[in-house]
Amino acid sequence: MTSGQKLLIIVCGLPGTGKSTVAKILAQRLGAKLLRTDVIRKEIFRQPRYDAKNVDRVYRELFLQAQKSEETRNIILDATFSKKKHRKTALRIAKLLGRRFVIIETMCSVAVVHLRLNKRTHRSISDARFSQYLAMRQSFEKIREPHYVINTSKGQRAVFKKTAALVRQLI
Ligand SMILES: Nc1ncnc2c1ncn2[C@@H]1O[C@H](COP(=O)(O)OP(=O)(O)OP(=O)(O)O)[C@@H](O)[C@H]1O
Ligand SMILES: [Mg+2]
Repeated sequence: MTSGQKLLIIVCGLPGTGKSTVAKILAQRLGAKLLRTDVIRKEIFRQPRYDAKNVDRVYRELFLQAQKSEETRNIILDATFSKKKHRKTALRIAKLLGRRFVIIETMCSVAVVHLRLNKRTHRSISDARFSQYLAMRQSFEKIREPHYVINTSKGQRAVFKKTAALVRQLI
């Protein structure tokens, strides 16, 4: 479905599955405002904190910043969104802002996530480690809402192509 309506896209998925990579491509192609919990978490805490109370705090800030976005721009929210309640809040905000709501889930094979997260350096803005991926796999509330999936197991070029194809469907 296409319309002139601006988008609010949430890019969800387990740690290390390629959310930020996909979100960045989407943002470039859609001229969108990109908001990331990776970045917001670092702004709020010196050491990353992942207990439920502080996770909620980071999402609250993410949603506040989304609501302050210019009306003329698409918005992309890059976060795990492992809890249904956070996806529901994003939907509510999309409605409030008159945006078309789109959910994209990134997926990747366990072996590839393992390799990619182990290669991460201290320069990466995200601190997610493979142990967090394994823990989150147990607690992630499966996305039963209508959504698109991008599998990022292949190389950057394949992911770029898939994401660009999805953008063409969305606009
Ligand atoms: N298609 C790809 N080919 C090779 N490397 C990739 C690909 N996609 C992502 N990566 C690398 O894998 C790592 C994880 O990707 P990315 O940061 O996009 O995942 P994420 O889901 O945002 O992770 P986090 O949950 O920690 O924020 C990064 O180092 C990234 O550069
Ligand atoms: Mg990320």
